[in-house]
Amino acid sequence: MSVKPTKQKPGEPPTTGHSWDGIEEFDNPMPRWWLWTFYVTIVWAIGYSILYPAWPLINGATNGLIGHSTRADVQRDIEAFTEANAAIRQQLVDTDLTAVAADPNLLQYATNAGAAVFRTNCVQCHGSGAAGNVGYPNLLDDDWLWGGDIEAIHTTVTHGIRNTTDDEARYSEMPRFGADGLLDGTQISQVVEYVLQISGQDHDAALSAEGATIFADNCAACHGEDGTGSRDVGAPNLTDAIWLYGGDRATVTETVTYARFGVMPNWNARLTEADIRSVAVYVHGLGGGE
Ligand code: HEC
Ligand code: HEC
Repeated sequence: MSVKPTKQKPGEPPTTGHSWDGIEEFDNPMPRWWLWTFYVTIVWAIGYSILYPAWPLINGATNGLIGHSTRADVQRDIEAFTEANAAIRQQLVDTDLTAVAADPNLLQYATNAGAAVFRTNCVQCHGSGAAGNVGYPNLLDDDWLWGGDIEAIHTTVTHGIRNTTDDEARYSEMPRFGADGLLDGTQISQVVEYVLQISGQDHDAALSAEGATIFADNCAACHGEDGTGSRDVGAPNLTDAIWLYGGDRATVTETVTYARFGVMPNWNARLTEADIRSVAVYVHGLGGGE
């Protein structure tokens, strides 16, 4: 039940006229400063949504009268960077690869740019630290399948390995000794023991002795008489502890039976020559470069 409002006392603001159980509500106006700030924000919001992209539509948003776009800003930034770097990138393309290291400025640019190219294009296979993975070689060590001087790395990156998209890709194919019946099961286990022996692992000496001949007849052409590999055909050194696919008995047996066929894309189709040179300089500088 509402009680009749009491009279406004001198010095008090007027009441709203509401009263509950005799408790009344003063009718205090909003402070001026607050009210004006509120009006200003309304005007600002209307102005903003007219001038800038604001209201979502089904396929996009309103563009705003002044045509502002953060995408265009980024594009301008990228163009500004490209332009600023154009000279040094041209210098990188014109300089003999082996001479890049002698120019500190150029070396620093190429290493930084190459690191960025590597992060974007190479880490998914070679690992974020370039330490590689099964089937994807470690690029930090000084053990190279195809060669670790700057020219060799540049060629590998430019044309790739065993891909079908570049005629100049590095190419070789280890025979599938087991799957294609070139060696029988006994011969395979003999040559596998020999590989274990030359890589300094526990092995069966009797089988390995037989395996030595099989190796000389079937494997030495690519892996070398002494098993240290050949860069002409990308055949790994089998005498060290560094393995691309694995050096245990089971994995070596699998490799000899089915062979492997590691493929790397050619980058000449996707990267500029300056980017390829940068990433070659970067990889060469990782520690294993020759
Ligand atoms: C799709 C996977 C893949 C990507 C991406 C890739 N690689 Fe490779 N890379 C390989 C494989 C597989 C091999 C080894 C091929 C073989 O067995 O001979 C290899 C080999 C190499 C070698 C030769 C190593 C040696 O020991 O001779 C270099 C150098 C190399 N990659 C650099 C790069 C660079 C630089 C990039 C980025 C621009 C890159 N790779 C991106 C898969 C890849
Ligand atoms: C035509 C050349 C060729 C012949 C012949 C050949 N290999 Fe290979 N072998 C290769 C190549 C190339 C690779 C690397 C394959 C890859 O990267 O995909 C390889 C890889 C291997 C590996 C893996 C090494 C690792 O680091 O994981 C082993 C083990 C191996 N070969 C053993 C043999 C044995 C044993 C024979 C003889 C029975 C043989 N190969 C004959 C070319 C050859």
